[in-house]
Amino acid sequence: MQTIRIAIAGYGNVGRMVAQMIVERRAEDLAAGRDLRLVALLGRRNGLVSSEGLEPVAPAALTGPTGPAALAAAAPDVVIEAGPSDYASGEPSASYIRAAFGLGSHVVVASKAALVREGIALRNEAAAKGLQLRISAAAAAALPVLDLLCDSHRGAGVFRIEGILNATCNVLLTAMARDGQSFDLALAAARAAGVAEADHRNDTGGFDAAAKLLLLANFGLGLSLTLDQIGREDLAALTPAHFDLWRARGEVPKQIARLELTESGVHADVSIRAFPAGHAFAGVEGGAKAVRITSRDMGEVFCTGHGEEPRATAAALLKDLLRICA
Ligand SMILES: NC(=O)c1ccc[n+]([C@@H]2O[C@H](COP(=O)([O-])OP(=O)(O)OC[C@H]3O[C@@H](n4cnc5c(N)ncnc54)[C@H](OP(=O)(O)O)[C@@H]3O)[C@@H](O)[C@H]2O)c1
Repeated sequence: MQTIRIAIAGYGNVGRMVAQMIVERRAEDLAAGRDLRLVALLGRRNGLVSSEGLEPVAPAALTGPTGPAALAAAAPDVVIEAGPSDYASGEPSASYIRAAFGLGSHVVVASKAALVREGIALRNEAAAKGLQLRISAAAAAALPVLDLLCDSHRGAGVFRIEGILNATCNVLLTAMARDGQSFDLALAAARAAGVAEADHRNDTGGFDAAAKLLLLANFGLGLSLTLDQIGREDLAALTPAHFDLWRARGEVPKQIARLELTESGVHADVSIRAFPAGHAFAGVEGGAKAVRITSRDMGEVFCTGHGEEPRATAAALLKDLLRICA
């Protein structure tokens, strides 16, 4: 029996869901000769560590020490990082990832900030120690874009990525374009439905989509893009006149994150683009995401999906964990 000791750093919606999913699949894993053992559940103020194995508990039941230092007692084989995304510092994610590497643990990451700030350095640190750093959950989560880039298009000469990568913006644009709602009304409805955060600017300003595009470029295509190289258009700046024009033309607006490799270099931006009603992107509505990858040898590949959160993101973490176990 192969025992995989797993620590979860960041025990919120995604962290708790991945813990639950690990338990749900226990019989299947044991039958396959794998014991996926939870050895640490680490929240912001408190944590739980047990080398004997833990069951998922309510956050209030975390009563012991937490933080990157608490990982040592757990001696995990894999750390699943699902803490907050703080773009100002990259913390606590960066410290958890480096503490894990220091212990010889592989890392699976859901939060974007540390990866956006210093993902290449972290990837190099992992490689230098012969460890895996896997980030599917941070880069479009249930939409398997990194898999498409790293595995399905290996050697195919990808030169363009276009995607609807931010579900919140797609919900808002769908309500504004299809249902004729104002930005404020669409935002209020999205908040009431739990789709939009209290501070929507990371999403509507294009920052979140740009962060995902950066991760796809750097981890999927081996580039070294920085956020200031990605232009951004603010969805909140759209006026009723824009929508009247698109309606008159029979076009559907979408927030598109786009990266193009040309002889003159890399061009990347997040902007609002309008597509004819029959176009594949035009049919991607509400909370769905989509990506179109264009390559020299495989032409155009289109992928779309709509996973239920937080299960879809937890499933992306689990996928990466199982790859490490393979
Ligand atoms: N949910 C999604 O659909 C989705 C999709 C893709 C990626 N992600 C990313 O996945 C991450 C987790 O998302 P989520 O929805 O689970 O967020 P969440 O519910 O806010 O969970 C984050 C958890 O991390 C805890 N935390 C804060 N500081 C910590 C520290 N120093 N050490 C350990 N834990 C700490 C928070 O505790 P407190 O509650 O006490 O602050 C919270 O419970 C985020 O970075 C998010 O951007 C989420």
